[in-house]
Amino acid sequence: MSSLLSRAPLSGADWFAVELDPATREVVMLDQRLLPGEVRYHRFHKPDDVANAIRDMVVRGAPAIGIAAAYALALVARDEQGDAKMFLVANGMAGRILNGTRPTAINLAWSIARMARRAGEVADLDPETRFEGMLAEAEAIHREDVAACRRMGALGADDVPDGAVILTHCNAGALATGGYGTALGVVRAAHAQGKNVRVLADETRPYLQGARLTAWELQQDGIPVEVITDSMAGHFLQRGEIQFVVVGSDRIAANADVANKIGTYSVAVLANRHEVPFTVAAPWSTVDLRTRSGADIPIEQRSREEVARVGNTWMVADGIACRHPGFDITPAALIDAIYTERGVVRPKAGERPDVLLG
Ligand code: MRU
Repeated sequence: MSSLLSRAPLSGADWFAVELDPATREVVMLDQRLLPGEVRYHRFHKPDDVANAIRDMVVRGAPAIGIAAAYALALVARDEQGDAKMFLVANGMAGRILNGTRPTAINLAWSIARMARRAGEVADLDPETRFEGMLAEAEAIHREDVAACRRMGALGADDVPDGAVILTHCNAGALATGGYGTALGVVRAAHAQGKNVRVLADETRPYLQGARLTAWELQQDGIPVEVITDSMAGHFLQRGEIQFVVVGSDRIAANADVANKIGTYSVAVLANRHEVPFTVAAPWSTVDLRTRSGADIPIEQRSREEVARVGNTWMVADGIACRHPGFDITPAALIDAIYTERGVVRPKAGERPDVLLG
């Protein structure tokens, strides 16, 4: 797939969720809505189209949408030929549109804020140099995310027992990040250490990120994976067939409560009931020390259609409402470890993310 770009992807693999092609100055994204049936990349020329792609789930996963937003802001710099004030207005407007696309993942706001700081630093330069500065910042965000995934992966892998069956929920892999993955980074690192690991991937109703994306990307790497429906996790935990659970996160509050894909909380309760380690892997950009607890994290409410329809078949009769929170909150008390590039937080032992500061 690298022939799609004028250079090797920053993802570190020959496939990727999101990259900027320096030759054409366009954002290139794998359409995750089509996987696993079709591997199709789209090119995005306009910042608004990147925002729509985030909203429409072409790209998804907290770090990946943050990176996509950063590249969109580089496109704004490419197009804005006016003075410093006009450039900053254009950057601010695009940032607000991008930030409104998905509310739960803090990586989006984090990335937009970082690009806004950079915009302030380059605003007085000529348009071409301004673009180069914004692109360099977006690429730094991307590269740092891949490096963070590798670091947290290595830390998490140390806790994974050899021979473990690892349960994961949703997709917190290369497709959800700049590359390598958070939860799947832990799996990849354990596999690379020579540990004999296998993955059980929750299908992750209703959007099926586990069945469609996690299984596909582990298959690319030759890591053994089996898909189960979400309702089977308790059964396999009860039978002692799962030794480790690792998931990603969209936002980690100051008290170590974790927001992640709907269904994560149920998995955490079940893992605790069966005394199987429940762990989270996330970059520091997912930690939001300004949000006190999980109760303060906004939960994205998604469409009735995603619940009521499976493929082309309607499962729910017309006129019947459905509920569809996209995320839930797992309390710190249920979490054994949070792996970040800064180190490991052990919430059950009373640690909070700020132990890693300073
Ligand atoms: O709705 P999605 O697919 O964007 O949700 C993604 C998740 O919940 C992931 O687990 C989370 O973003 C972490 S990705 C490294």
